[in-house]
Amino acid sequence: MKKNVRDERINTGTYVEAVSGQKLDQTHPYYSGRTTNRARQRAESEMDRAMAPSGDTVANVHSGTDSTNKTLLKSDALYTYILDTTVFPREHECMRDLRLITDRHPKGFMQSSSDEAQLLGMLIKMAGAKKTIEVGVFTGYSLLATALALPEDGKVLAIDTDRDCYEVGRPFIEKADVAHKVDFRQGTGLERLDELLAEEDGAASYDFAFVDADKPNYVRYHEQLLRLVRIGGTIIYDNTLWGGTVALPASTPMSDLDTRFSAALRDFNAKLAADPRIEVCQLAIADGVTICRRLI
Ligand SMILES: C[S@@+](CC[C@H](N)C(=O)[O-])C[C@H]1O[C@@H](n2cnc3c(N)ncnc32)[C@H](O)[C@@H]1O
Repeated sequence: MKKNVRDERINTGTYVEAVSGQKLDQTHPYYSGRTTNRARQRAESEMDRAMAPSGDTVANVHSGTDSTNKTLLKSDALYTYILDTTVFPREHECMRDLRLITDRHPKGFMQSSSDEAQLLGMLIKMAGAKKTIEVGVFTGYSLLATALALPEDGKVLAIDTDRDCYEVGRPFIEKADVAHKVDFRQGTGLERLDELLAEEDGAASYDFAFVDADKPNYVRYHEQLLRLVRIGGTIIYDNTLWGGTVALPASTPMSDLDTRFSAALRDFNAKLAADPRIEVCQLAIADGVTICRRLI
């Protein structure tokens, strides 16, 4: 039976070892996430081979699934399939060009994934959002997805401490003819959001917010955004599963940064789950994406 295979792997230490070796310390958690997937995929293939029926009978693909293991995220090949089938063919050419340029940037790993950007655009359109906030721009891939999804009179207020990275992406935003929707403000998210709260028409005036920076301060951003986003509005947080590390035992060896960020995100996820002011939904897309809808 395939049931609870992931739990068994955690217990036998396979999963933990896969992400807690030296490589994890040398690399960013995104890479550890991939390592985890590959290790899981290898182990799963072995298990599948061991369980393969000897006769002609082919098991139903959903046999052995229940509420604890019904996920499709099992292989790099599946992810490539999703990108090649549904994401890349519909990616705006300016987004594709910016993505490929950013992939060559020394910190290119920070760029949001294409399927996540597609999700952002879809959510913005479904919400009919006009006035949005982004904290954490980098070279602007998710910002461009946002600007393209907004209506002609929509605006995204984009905040980042680093203007140079934003300048890398600005020509692509201009080429896509959406620069008039972008209001870039340099500075820390906490400071800039406080300024918005101090503005006469700031509170409860935003339809949508996306936070992808300064993870240890997510709890504070949440308090600010619950005042800035209107009731019924949407707040999205990125990286909430931090390479899968939030599910590892706290004693798992990791870099200082990963230990700190992972603990902060575990705390944040628990707080969101218990927050009666929002509806919340955790997606296992990209590095973990959490969708919140303001209720009160
Ligand atoms: C993960 S990247 C954002 C990626 C971006 N969403 C994209 O699609 O490419 C995080 C960004 O947050 C910025 N940053 C870090 N600390 C910040 C803070 N306290 N306030 C605002 N931005 C910050 C960094 O300069 C970096 O550009």
